[in-house]
Amino acid sequence: MKNEEMKSEKQRINKERTKRQVKTVERKHIFLIGFMGAGKSTVAAELARQTQRTVIEMDARIEREEQKKISDIFADFGEAYFRSLETKLLETIGEEPAAIVSCGGGAAMREENRDIMHVEGYTVLLTAKPNTIYERVRFSTERPILNQNMSVEYIQELMEKRRPAYEAAADFIVWTDGKNVSQISQEILEQIEGNSGR
Ligand code: S3P
Repeated sequence: MKNEEMKSEKQRINKERTKRQVKTVERKHIFLIGFMGAGKSTVAAELARQTQRTVIEMDARIEREEQKKISDIFADFGEAYFRSLETKLLETIGEEPAAIVSCGGGAAMREENRDIMHVEGYTVLLTAKPNTIYERVRFSTERPILNQNMSVEYIQELMEKRRPAYEAAADFIVWTDGKNVSQISQEILEQIEGNSGR
């Protein structure tokens, strides 16, 4: 390679690196998305511990702001209203210091929400087999979407329906079946490190 070419190649590499670093800083939050029972809250707590960040638990925030339980918001105002609360919350997320955001299971369904996640950080899809999900959520009465539909078949069907949106939102996917929480968070941190040039 000629001197001139080497110089411009070096400049190109440096430019790329700077772009990457700026991007890494900008994309600051870590969004955990995925089906109910995928382990978002548990993994968020572990990631927060490891990264010294706070957790933004979307459902809890919404409950606090509305002074109502999620199931009551669904019952009193319907799902569409709840979805608009999720979007409203995500619209303010850029103002918060770098956090681990544990998203409600349906938050990645709206394109505008996915766009916000993409701009504001990394998005990690936590997933598991429908059977595993069922075992984790079967005794829960706090999830209006599953209240009348607590079965592996329904979970499988809804997961399948949601899969394209989850995958569209995700920078990467982490399977959680048979893994413990520290293995999962380690995997996430490694992926983010490896993906920080994206
Ligand atoms: C929902 C998931 C719930 C909660 C609401 C709706 C969904 O959050 O936001 O009940 O549509 O998947 P979790 O995924 O934390 O259970």
